[in-house]
Amino acid sequence: MTEIAVEAAEVPAQLPQVRVAVLGAGKMGGTLLQAFLKQKLFAPDQIHATVGHAERAIALSTQWGVDVTTKNLEAAQQADLILIGVKPFQVPELIEEIRPALTPEKTLISFAAAVKTSAIEDAAGMEIGVIRAMPNTPAALGAGATALCRGRFVSATQMELAERIFETVGRTVTVNEKHMDAVTGLSGSGPAYVYIIIEALAEAGVKVGLPRDTATLLAAQTVFGSAKMVLETGYHPALLKDAVTTPAGCTIDGILELEEGGLRVTLIKAVMRATERAKQLAAG
Ligand SMILES: NC(=O)c1ccc[n+]([C@@H]2O[C@H](COP(=O)([O-])OP(=O)(O)OC[C@H]3O[C@@H](n4cnc5c(N)ncnc54)[C@H](OP(=O)(O)O)[C@@H]3O)[C@@H](O)[C@H]2O)c1
Repeated sequence: MTEIAVEAAEVPAQLPQVRVAVLGAGKMGGTLLQAFLKQKLFAPDQIHATVGHAERAIALSTQWGVDVTTKNLEAAQQADLILIGVKPFQVPELIEEIRPALTPEKTLISFAAAVKTSAIEDAAGMEIGVIRAMPNTPAALGAGATALCRGRFVSATQMELAERIFETVGRTVTVNEKHMDAVTGLSGSGPAYVYIIIEALAEAGVKVGLPRDTATLLAAQTVFGSAKMVLETGYHPALLKDAVTTPAGCTIDGILELEEGGLRVTLIKAVMRATERAKQLAAG
């Protein structure tokens, strides 16, 4: 994944009163942490992060210019806002480990797939605000899509804080927790589906004679531009598709092939399968 270049904070952090712990600063946790620094949402001295391996902690500490250790409890003690980024199966054990540092005034945000807010509340053993987030990897470039949902003890202020944080890495939506597995199947896994589509379009470009780098650029920019059209015009995708499709032109022939090949149904089934898998993970 593309690493974000971290620049020293030149202006004051935008949330100077909040101390943050990122427990499990791996691919997603590290992406978020670097985005926070890049956006100057938090100053480096407001953040304490942890990973599983001590040597990795040292390397990341140097790379990011923030305190990175393997000490979850210490990091949680020094934070008002605790982000949980370990693998789903590790979450209960992690909450158990940091329990002495938890108080009802602190906020927990977990982005572990499939782990319910109630499971975290139960493991914490107190009425603490737990927010679940499902970001995706384009967050690395500030183009992420994050769905948020709230646990039982979350205040409006805590929810606003979560929105503010995830808005630094893209767009956010708030959903009912029952939809989080669907979000995982759609936007959590979605970048992988779209990369396959881009790769296939680029292969197609090669097949019809374009140099590969030209074909890849055209394919990626076409996906980017089309997404931007949907987001910024607010028009239904079908209407935008119709605007490209001249009667008896080229596009309708391409669409005919897509329909015959079942692209639409295949994508629907992909999201359904990934959603089912997320449900299974949730069930343990
Ligand atoms: N990747 C995605 O697209 C994505 C999207 C949405 C949500 N998520 C969620 O994000 C979480 C992490 O996924 P990932 O892809 O970022 O995996 P990852 O890169 O493997 O990150 C997991 C991190 O947890 C650290 N860790 C392991 N044991 C620990 C412990 N006991 N205490 C503190 N840290 C510990 C690991 O440290 P070491 O590096 O030292 O092993 C690693 O840095 C998962 O729950 C996943 O469901 C991921």
